[in-house]
Amino acid sequence: MTTRVERRRLLEEAGFNVFLLHSEDVLLDFLTDSGTSAMSAAQWAGMQRGDESYAGSPSYYRFESAVQEIFGFEHVIPTHQGRAAERILFTTTCRPDDVVPSNTHFDTTRANVEAVGARAVDLPCPEGLKPAESHPFKGNMDVDRLEALFRDEGSDRIPLVMLTVTNNSGGGQPVSMENVRAVAEVCRRHGTPLFIDACRFAENAYFIRLREPGYENTSVRVIAREMFDLADGCTMSAKKDGLANIGGFLALRDPELARSQRNLLILTEGFPTYGGLAGRDLEAIAIGLEEVLQEDYLDYRLASVRYLGERIAAGGVPIMQPPGGHAVYIDAAALLPHVPPVEFPGQTVVAELYLEGGIRGVEVGSVMFGRHNAETGEEEPARMELVRLALPRRVYTQSHVDYAVESILAFAGRRENVGGFRFSEQQPVLRHFTARFAPLYDLG
Ligand code: F0G
Repeated sequence: MTTRVERRRLLEEAGFNVFLLHSEDVLLDFLTDSGTSAMSAAQWAGMQRGDESYAGSPSYYRFESAVQEIFGFEHVIPTHQGRAAERILFTTTCRPDDVVPSNTHFDTTRANVEAVGARAVDLPCPEGLKPAESHPFKGNMDVDRLEALFRDEGSDRIPLVMLTVTNNSGGGQPVSMENVRAVAEVCRRHGTPLFIDACRFAENAYFIRLREPGYENTSVRVIAREMFDLADGCTMSAKKDGLANIGGFLALRDPELARSQRNLLILTEGFPTYGGLAGRDLEAIAIGLEEVLQEDYLDYRLASVRYLGERIAAGGVPIMQPPGGHAVYIDAAALLPHVPPVEFPGQTVVAELYLEGGIRGVEVGSVMFGRHNAETGEEEPARMELVRLALPRRVYTQSHVDYAVESILAFAGRRENVGGFRFSEQQPVLRHFTARFAPLYDLG
């Protein structure tokens, strides 16, 4: 617990960037659902038998067969987290000026595409850009625009297509099986591989079961496998639906590509049977991947997120509808219409929720996805101004969520009195992690 006076001081010391707070000064940490899961007794038990052999560890083979069985890809390359898998994937597939489309690239995915000189293009479906409108699969890719991109760029400029399930940057919204199938069909016609960013694959599969006609009686495991059977590979952050605190992998069918990726893996991550992870981590992931498919768990998971979303929406806070799988996204542009995008309304909401209740969320708007034009000195805003409240898996109880609801509604009640922020310091890439801000109003 901290007092408001303490939080005011701590926030200022952190340059009004909640990434720079000490987590001990945060009461409810909704910054991310990544690496913050509580591990189960079975996972902790698995860690005890972690085998730390440099090469050929039995822990690796248990991990490999869990991934092969659930995802169906033959080649399994462990990495220390998702972005390492992304870096290896794009380094081995993209050339400068190539184009990599996605429903919406996550920030590290976009940065890794751009780091190899290629262009990351987001093709969300139109419903995905209208926060207030409810639609069962707002994470879908716009297939017509994908076709148009192939026409305009030519398939030799598009080395692969990515599909993020669920669509994190687009509000944690699911992608339908119908959409995966349609995207896969376009890729097949152009001879282009499809890779799934599988971070939240189990949550996506459960949404398909709940919302897509024809899947009511299909198990989440079978749905997940059907999704991956349509793709050529995936990148995975086991810090999400692997229920682990660290880890990830790259998995694929193409043996040639896998060979060059393993070589790159050795250069920066480690030998192919541990890839930057301890044997015990591989055990925790193998068990987590099984546990995340338990439907009672998924039922509770989605219900918790829905509960938070529905309660604050009922209190008049505009959110991305319907609530996503891992997070509720507040529509900061609609909540604070008097704060223009270039003054970062999402940043205000994040700062104010910390001041109000010691709650830490994350801005997913013009701070994260806008651009600073170094020539004109102007800010180019993002498409949406969202604030994500991500729920760690198996961590918080309903009374924690009730406390969050009270704090969010208390802030919403005094929203007319807040203003915006400006950058006082920023880096050219992934600026939201380290930037410092100055408020353009009196925070009290
Ligand atoms: N793809 C998606 C959709 C993600 O959400 C993340 C991470 C990554 C890739 C990268 O994985 O962190 O293991 O390197 N998302 C976290 C988040 C950080 O807070 O949403 P990583």
